Amino acid sequence: MRCTGAVLWMFLVLSAAGSTLELGIEPRYASKFQYDQQLLEKMIRKEVEMEKWEVINEKLGLITRVKERVDQLMESDKLEKRISEVLGNITRLQEQVNHLSE
Ligand SMILES: *[C@@H]1O[C@H](CO)[C@@H](O)[C@H](O)[C@H]1NC(C)=O
Repeated sequence: MRCTGAVLWMFLVLSAAGSTLELGIEPRYASKFQYDQQLLEKMIRKEVEMEKWEVINEKLGLITRVKERVDQLMESDKLEKRISEVLGNITRLQEQVNHLSE
């Protein structure tokens, strides 16, 4: 999966950066291991969040496509109304012609 690759890459980069800054480890973590573990857990949560956003974006895309289809159908509904208007006009013209030929 694309996200997993990105998250693991970020983890590797950040833990490499962390090991070059041994003294920079935040004091609320008892050890580097615990710090790395918390970081990994945080990244996994981010990944789950990103996957949710992907699903949301997918659904939004679907909604947009359905809306476009509805718009198209409304257009064809307008077309139907115009066709029946034209047919009504033709019928009226036929009646007028019939009256003239009487
Ligand atoms: C139908 O006839 C009316 C009145 O003559 C006209 O205003 C209208 O544009 C016509 N509709 C179509 C679709 O030709």
